[in-house]
Amino acid sequence: MVDINARERLKLMLGGVSLLALGNCSGGGGGSNSTPTPTPTPTPTPTPTGYQPSSGLLRNTYRNNFKVGSSVQTPRIDAADTSIDLLKSQFNSMMAEYEMKPNALAPREGEFDFSAADRLVDFAEENGLEMHGHTLLWNDSTPDYFFEGTRAEIKARLENYITQVVSRYRGRIKSWHVVNEVIANSDSEPNAPYSDTTWYRVVGNADFIDWAFVAARAADPDALLLINEYTTEFPDKRARLLQVVQDLLDRNIPIDGVGHQCHLDYRDTAQSVLDAIDAVDDLFAGLVNHITELDVSVYGDPGSCWENQTGCDPDFGANLPDSMQATQAQLLRDIFDGLILRPSVENVSFWGITDKYSWLNTSPTTRSNYPLLFDRNYEAKPMFRAITDRNYEI
Ligand code: G3I
Repeated sequence: MVDINARERLKLMLGGVSLLALGNCSGGGGGSNSTPTPTPTPTPTPTPTGYQPSSGLLRNTYRNNFKVGSSVQTPRIDAADTSIDLLKSQFNSMMAEYEMKPNALAPREGEFDFSAADRLVDFAEENGLEMHGHTLLWNDSTPDYFFEGTRAEIKARLENYITQVVSRYRGRIKSWHVVNEVIANSDSEPNAPYSDTTWYRVVGNADFIDWAFVAARAADPDALLLINEYTTEFPDKRARLLQVVQDLLDRNIPIDGVGHQCHLDYRDTAQSVLDAIDAVDDLFAGLVNHITELDVSVYGDPGSCWENQTGCDPDFGANLPDSMQATQAQLLRDIFDGLILRPSVENVSFWGITDKYSWLNTSPTTRSNYPLLFDRNYEAKPMFRAITDRNYEI
């Protein structure tokens, strides 16, 4: 059975490509190792503009609305990369981009390696950043041994893993993405509304979601427990997500909110994102909404690009049109203008700080992407200025 991650499946559906045509698709995203990618061409360093935002400008702009965060990797901290200076000066929230996933924390049965996670949580506390836990369960980052044995053994192993991880950081992690990408991208998928993951197949149903939330709540009663999902801005995907959330609530499974990944591209609309927030608010008063992995790709690829890197938009290279930057900036301004009017939104986190290290430079194909607030020279881009200065003319 060829296993692909749900995001690629969605792209395939969008591109009308049969799943049967799949090659050996990678899971996860940037840094995945099943589709060898050529060494990225050196990415461009734009001409400095001279604009330097004042310290705290981004987080202070939204201090009465929500925390503003980013994903982080320890190699950037180790290298004292300039992006970490930007993290400390502009953001007030962070999460691990990959080092707090099961394949990083427990790569082999009975062995935990908390070294990177400890450093990230310590770093957050030392620098006054709220720490969020990404992610306790994700099919794409689950070592095979998690799926071995009887259903009772699989349950016990997952409960033990979550108990070990969540209790270790009890009181230090504001929210946990308890489950990530467990919702089907189409009603025609065999286990809809659930994604057809290995987790679903070995457990035989979606009980693993219940087990994860119950274990997380027991290990840290004060942490917010979220279900984290991508393309919640698509109404049909969102409908399946809300169906699952309603079912969890009906059965008193402890869930506190929804994480909307928001891996957007320049074609998306602010209203589609705001509709996702409103849909949760309309049905589930009291649940929180987090934007968890925000970026705005400058490419609008078909599904085939995610499947086998064919049909991908051409690489802009060093020549990103100003018009594209303006489109991204207006989209982000419209999104943030809407989010500040929605009290259930408590955190808005980007999936990275500088274009230089974005997962989108190697996924779905290797080319120069420009999805984040700071460029490859660590300069604030029009997107940053659009959401921190009302007088900035896009
Ligand atoms: O940096 C290490 C390197 O030191 C080490 O030698 C190498 C050996 O494996 O790994 C390198 O880390 C890689 C890391 O990306 C940094 O490039 C990991 O292998 C690789 O698995 C990791 O990929 C991450 C991916 O999730 C899988 O965990 C991406 O950074 C991360 O952007 C991506 O993020 C996901 C979210 O968790 C869920 N939503 C979709 C999103 C994009 O796929």
